[in-house]
Amino acid sequence: MSLADGAWIEPAPAKLNLALHVTGRRADGYHLLDSLVAFAAVGDEVALTPGPLALQIDGPFAAGLGTDEDNLCLRAARMVGGQARIRLTKNLPVASGIGGGSADAAAVLRALKRMGLELPPAPERLGADVPVCLASRPARMEGVGEIVTPLPPLPRLHLVLVNPGIAVATPRVFAALARKDNPPLPPVPRFARASDLTAWLAQTRNDLEAPAIALAPQVREVLDALQAQGAGFARMSGSGATCFGIFATAGAAAEAAAALGRPGWWAVASELAPDPAAR
Ligand code: C5P
Repeated sequence: MSLADGAWIEPAPAKLNLALHVTGRRADGYHLLDSLVAFAAVGDEVALTPGPLALQIDGPFAAGLGTDEDNLCLRAARMVGGQARIRLTKNLPVASGIGGGSADAAAVLRALKRMGLELPPAPERLGADVPVCLASRPARMEGVGEIVTPLPPLPRLHLVLVNPGIAVATPRVFAALARKDNPPLPPVPRFARASDLTAWLAQTRNDLEAPAIALAPQVREVLDALQAQGAGFARMSGSGATCFGIFATAGAAAEAAAALGRPGWWAVASELAPDPAAR
């Protein structure tokens, strides 16, 4: 968070579900989740200036989003009575399993809090990922997203995020999920090294990966391509279609990102986001 030229600037880091187990289904149709969530340094950004509520979007993925009143940034601001001109810089592909709208809405709420407003009592009503995105630090996420348990910082990770240029509709992925009562995550230890984390991840799943691949086979292609580029571990995030790979070094990640920047694909090398307290 910084204040520049009278604007409150807040990063909206990409959310990564390093593991995501679907453990049940509520009567209202929402699914119960158990997820290890981390945040990448790459992300969108919001800048708020006091004034009548308005939204303007720029950045490489601006075209994928409307500025109408349904936009999550505006809904977030209205939820707390926020008056601000919001500029959203959309660096992340839209509807791609890495937070997107929820990360942007959470960033707006964080900026409005800095401007003196309270956070809303049930931010998950904006989107299941909003509570964890408000924290924007490693966490275990349970319930339908409203139960967030912060975790100690994770070891340094050399990540590559890849999206094959297709949007996958979250409700369709959940609907295509065969088993909705999978076991929860194993206990989450403190990870000293990246190799401890990848060994733990190998015992976990993203339960939404198989149904997402059934709807969008390009997800399988991305996972195979990450592995072919040398990722020690590769998995889809959220309901897709963005996947992440974990590489041994920053150089290997940069090379893989360059090789995976195929026509129509979005590929970036990134580290984890710095702890919000250290920003
Ligand atoms: O809350 P969000 O907008 O991210 O959710 C999009 C859709 O994904 C919901 O309308 C619902 O169909 C599905 N969903 C779910 N269980 C969750 C989160 C999302 O079934 N925990």
